[in-house]
Amino acid sequence: RQSNIVVIGSLNMDIVVEAPRFPQVGETISGTKAHFIPGGKGGNQAVAAARLGARTHMVGMVGDDAFGGALIQSLAANQVITKRVTQTAEEPTGLASIMIAHEDNHIVVVPGANALCLPENIEALEETIAAADIVLLQLEIPMETVVAAAEMAKRHGKTVILNPAPAQKLPDALLHSVDFMTPNRSELYLLTGIDPYGDGLEKAIDALLEMGPRCVVTTLGSAGSVYKEKGKELIAIPAHHVPVVDTTGAGDAFNGGLGYALSIGYGLDQAVRFAGKVSALAVTRFGAQAGMPTLDEVKAFALKLMQPE
Ligand code: RIB
Ligand code: NA
Repeated sequence: RQSNIVVIGSLNMDIVVEAPRFPQVGETISGTKAHFIPGGKGGNQAVAAARLGARTHMVGMVGDDAFGGALIQSLAANQVITKRVTQTAEEPTGLASIMIAHEDNHIVVVPGANALCLPENIEALEETIAAADIVLLQLEIPMETVVAAAEMAKRHGKTVILNPAPAQKLPDALLHSVDFMTPNRSELYLLTGIDPYGDGLEKAIDALLEMGPRCVVTTLGSAGSVYKEKGKELIAIPAHHVPVVDTTGAGDAFNGGLGYALSIGYGLDQAVRFAGKVSALAVTRFGAQAGMPTLDEVKAFALKLMQPE
């Protein structure tokens, strides 16, 4: 049986400008390239899960404009089911202005239609969620909608993964409806108030576990990831060293990979390792959605890692 994932979240057109360096405040510099590519944390995670082979529903809002049409087409071209992506005439499609220099990026997101993805939109999802193995959420749509989605998923006994990005404080109702939480270090800091950059990492994770979720997985960029389940030990998973092309969507690749792996029944350790491979492959390619690997690519990568140099 093919596993089922429902992603409820944002869809953005990413306007990506490459430059030799970031400009100073008030400074103008010449860039080298500009691209329009499909993004948004929700859309990216949906494409990641679908490319791996999950039957994936995307729930979200775009504008009734050219970008909105392009985003829906791109999802569909990646086998994401778009029945629940609505076009609205009230706001333009969400937009992310992304500047890339060296291996770093700066991102400004203008939510547009994503802000109109309201709790009412969740009411129609009972059946879709009832058929899901995993519900995958982020924080680029209104908080009340994320809460409503998580609560509906819980009512149906579904596993909920929350990627708490971009960083925001979370209401208790959400904290208690989430199984897996996947903050990066800065998100973990904001959520707990405990500095996780040095010795405090485990303490911060413990604090977050106290707040509700049964497991926290923290991505550490080039240092890999750590995870901890309530009452168990902290486990560190090393990173894969790969040539970095574009880290935009690396976190989304990780979450899509984690959701996929859990949806097909992988244990937690195996799932976190799998997610790390998906995200390692994603950063070797340009573009958020465009860079997501297929299951065959992840398998080939895993095989290569097992071979002696
Ligand atoms: O996580 C990466 C995404 O964040 C980009 O695709 C951009 O749209 C922003 O939402
Ligand atoms: Na990428």
